[in-house]
Amino acid sequence: MKKAILGLVVLVAFVAASALAGDYHTGGTLNCAECHVMHYSQTHGYEADGSGLMTDLGLTGPYHFLLRDEINNLCLACHDNQSFAPDVLADDGGIAPTNGRQAGALNRDNVAPYFDATGHTLGSELVAPGGTFQHTPGGLNCIDCHQQHGYGGFVAEGNNPYRNLLYSAGGVSGPGVSYAVGTRDATKDVYEVSAAEGGDHYDIQNVFFNEPTQTASGYGAWCKGCHTDFHGSSSDANMRVTGAPVSTQWLRHPTADADIGGAATGGHSDLAQLGAAAYRVQYMSSTGEWGTWGVAEAVTSTDLTPSCMTCHKAHGNTRAFGLIWATGAANYGENGDGTSYQVLCSQCHVQGG
Ligand code: HEC
Ligand code: HEC
Ligand code: HEC
Ligand code: HEC
Ligand code: HEC
Ligand code: HEC
Repeated sequence: MKKAILGLVVLVAFVAASALAGDYHTGGTLNCAECHVMHYSQTHGYEADGSGLMTDLGLTGPYHFLLRDEINNLCLACHDNQSFAPDVLADDGGIAPTNGRQAGALNRDNVAPYFDATGHTLGSELVAPGGTFQHTPGGLNCIDCHQQHGYGGFVAEGNNPYRNLLYSAGGVSGPGVSYAVGTRDATKDVYEVSAAEGGDHYDIQNVFFNEPTQTASGYGAWCKGCHTDFHGSSSDANMRVTGAPVSTQWLRHPTADADIGGAATGGHSDLAQLGAAAYRVQYMSSTGEWGTWGVAEAVTSTDLTPSCMTCHKAHGNTRAFGLIWATGAANYGENGDGTSYQVLCSQCHVQGG
């Protein structure tokens, strides 16, 4: 159900006032009124003169947990076509996502170019491929993946994960995706270069993936919560013929525990091939060798490993399966600059040139 969005005027102030670099909707930036309303009625805003309107109320309430709207609509009131928060749904001619969006775009309405087949579909009641997760009735929503309150201290798990992602996506208790902002911490899964919210906080050029454990991927393990069979290490039988020589005989594409160029012979992935790409796809590195954006340069690290973010946008984009068609020759944006998905493979593999 769609509804009119009327007066979201004061949110910029909240962003500006935010003290917690890298996090929003947690601790000091968890502003209850952005999402909850006490009586399903609100005549004026929170300033003494009545100004300062908050998120509009949906038309078919009251809603569970005193929410202002049904969950996807509630979140999209700010996260679609607004200037003060990342637009996460399609790109429907409203306010362009000026700061870039590492996660890409969700789809909902099966309208070109954001068809249902281009990534995660809000409201979908389908079973997650490779797993058993299914949100029925109701369909896929934001809090199947994100914790609405962040993890603000009272939760035993400890620090808030990257992008407030759930610790237990798909009901599977995971370690969560850890991160650090401003200063690289090689023990965390993600390094966000920009410490400031707003700005370029969500730009692909400012998000890098460490590899704290050489045999694992925090990001891949998180996706595995729903896509159970698609992730594991080289010694897991769902991924590889475990007795075969190192880095060979994969049964599913590696998403951890496989180094680019790690299989010495036989036409496997190749570091020289990767070095020829000026705009590389994202991969994990324990040494922080992600390349310089726009520069083709020799690769010296032998620890670079693909994972889900190498090939897919987490929310989706305009390509089938949310795949990133990145040739490596140009700034590829969220959809990729190529004309087919093969160009993505050619960043690491020599087959096809
Ligand atoms: C970004 C939106 C958002 C903000 C901000 C927010 N909430 Fe919530 N809250 C939700 C959603 C969505 C649910 C429903 C969760 C569900 O359906 O399981 C919820 C549920 C709750 C619940 C039910 C128990 C639980 O944790 O699920 C309580 C209590 C609650 N919120 C209190 C608060 C308080 C107090 C604040 C401010 C300190 C706050 N919320 C801020 C979105 C928000
Ligand atoms: C299937 C899981 C999933 C669903 C559903 C989902 N998200 Fe996300 N979201 C993610 C992941 C994973 C990331 C981080 C991806 C990355 O950095 O590579 C993310 C990132 C984000 C970001 C940071 C912006 C960016 O481009 O990096 C925002 C904001 C966000 N999500 C909001 C939402 C909202 C609002 C909804 C519902 C309308 C939603 N998400 C639904 C998984 C999901
Ligand atoms: C909470 C469960 C959940 C999590 C976590 C999750 N997914 Fe999904 N995913 C689904 C469901 C359900 C579908 C099928 C419905 C749809 O396409 O939205 C799906 C579909 C997909 C598709 C196919 C999309 C298409 O249009 O054919 C891809 C690709 C995908 N997921 C990748 C990922 C990646 C990468 C991650 C981790 C960043 C992830 N998923 C995390 C539930 C999840
Ligand atoms: C009243 C407006 C508003 C609503 C409603 C809202 N958000 Fe946000 N959200 C924001 C703002 C503002 C930011 C910070 C923007 C920035 O960093 O530039 C943000 C940031 C985020 C981020 C990124 C946090 C990070 O640490 O990087 C996620 C994820 C997110 N929101 C998810 C949600 C979800 C899920 C809901 C619904 C339960 C929701 N939001 C509802 C305004 C809103
Ligand atoms: C090397 C690139 C690559 C990596 C890494 C990768 N994928 Fe994929 N994925 C693809 C391609 C390409 C497809 C489209 C189907 C095909 O050609 O195999 C796909 C399809 C999917 C689908 C849809 C399957 C279906 O039945 O329609 C899901 C879900 C998915 N991937 C999830 C993931 C998750 C989760 C990870 C990380 C654990 C991951 N992928 C890592 C390239 C990749
Ligand atoms: C970021 C680098 C990277 C990208 C991009 C990439 N791969 Fe791979 N791929 C690897 C690594 C590392 C391995 C592990 C074995 C090796 O080195 O070949 C691998 C293994 C494979 C294997 C199995 C080899 C075996 O011995 O079992 C196939 C097939 C494959 N990739 C196909 C693809 C396809 C198709 C694409 C594009 C959708 C793709 N790859 C994209 C790095 C990558």
